[in-house]
Amino acid sequence: MTETHVNTVANSSASAPASLASDRPLGTPLGEHPTRVLFLGSGELGKEVTIELMRLGAWVCAADSYAGAPAQQVAHEYRVLDMANADALQSLFDEVKPDIIVPEVEAIATDVLAGAAAAGAQVVPSAEIAAICMDRERLRVLAHEELGLPTTPYRFAGSLEELRAGAAEVGYPCVVKPVMSSSGHGQSVVRSAEAIDAAWVEAQEGRRAADEGDVSRVIVEALAPLERELTVLTVSSSAGIVTCAPIGQRQESGDYRESWQPATEPAGEAERAQEIARAAVEGLVARARKAGETGWGVFGVELFVLTDGSILFNEVSPRPHDTGMVTMASQRLSEFALHARAILGLPITAEHVALSLPNGAVAASHAIVVAGDGEAEFTNVAEALAEPSTDLRIFAKPEVHGHRRMAVALAIGADEADARAKAGRVAEALEIDVR
Ligand SMILES: Nc1ncnc2c1ncn2[C@@H]1O[C@H](COP(=O)(O)OP(=O)(O)OP(=O)(O)O)[C@@H](O)[C@H]1O
Ligand SMILES: [Mg+2]
Repeated sequence: MTETHVNTVANSSASAPASLASDRPLGTPLGEHPTRVLFLGSGELGKEVTIELMRLGAWVCAADSYAGAPAQQVAHEYRVLDMANADALQSLFDEVKPDIIVPEVEAIATDVLAGAAAAGAQVVPSAEIAAICMDRERLRVLAHEELGLPTTPYRFAGSLEELRAGAAEVGYPCVVKPVMSSSGHGQSVVRSAEAIDAAWVEAQEGRRAADEGDVSRVIVEALAPLERELTVLTVSSSAGIVTCAPIGQRQESGDYRESWQPATEPAGEAERAQEIARAAVEGLVARARKAGETGWGVFGVELFVLTDGSILFNEVSPRPHDTGMVTMASQRLSEFALHARAILGLPITAEHVALSLPNGAVAASHAIVVAGDGEAEFTNVAEALAEPSTDLRIFAKPEVHGHRRMAVALAIGADEADARAKAGRVAEALEIDVR
């Protein structure tokens, strides 16, 4: 069952005219023929993209598994359903009749997405890309074996025996991950052969569809000696593919805590990182085109910089990236504005993705992760934002249970250290009561 909620007085006609994907009608979201955009997943990233789409006059409906999700609070309408349920998802498409479908989470019934694309909806960036990127095996085979991008050595396994053999080949220490999982779920670092059986169990329990009967395939890869990690936001639009300045980041227990842009690194590294990112996205977009889809949107390409300075491709999320929240401070068009424009068919060129920072300055973001049980109330905001060149986004998620990212602090500083310190002070000054 899909719950229906209308945030606005008028409801629009479901029958939008067939229009050129690159020339969508804008400005009449409550009229007869709006461009209808449906979000599958309504988190803080989707909220920002929703705002950007609404600024350009599109109609937006935000769906999630619970009510009150961030994007649902700003969209024209919202729906609540289990997006992994194929029937529920199909009913949602039949009812909303979206021109553009934006999957914001990976746990979505992908065959229904493919069906919608075949029936003429624009899936962002494409149903084919969504299916490839949610499957580490398909993505790694494309990136390394077809596109020739450098990755850490890896093997795939469909049984414990295959995993033992694969681990012996890539060597220890290695990392075992379910081919379908995100945010570090089901992953473990294995330091010796004795611990490999436990990693298999962990992967089976942590994979996305742990309630399904089938065994999950896993990837086992060599633990790379990381110096640091980079995200290169890459935009595919009607004007081609362009890359943003690399974003540096600090990860903690599987989640990003701080990011900064541009990442200050040795000469030549940014260019190499951008080349790998562009090649990965070109490969994905080529697949989309072959399937008759646009492949338009922002991609977050995750890269490893090793202690010897070499750069490896890790993975790519076919949507704005959480580390890219820093672009709300560093670029005139944030990753969210770029995503909105790209999916509407508008051209994005190198000028559009340029940094808008004073000479030598760096921007930083600091994720505010709140612990507790209940509603999170923010006070002392005035003091937190007293310093110039700082900013804050409070996601307005209804509740915290355990740990949850609830806000992000942003800052511009003279250099990386200054920007990170400033954003950290904003986060520190906030008083957050969970009750
Ligand atoms: N082979 C590896 N060598 C070293 N570190 C690794 C390796 N694989 C993963 N990691 C670390 O674990 C993090 C998460 O891994 P990965 O990005 O593959 O999984 P994920 O579940 O998709 O995570 P997320 O959804 O947070 O991006 C990486 O950003 C990196 O810090
Ligand atoms: Mg990752």
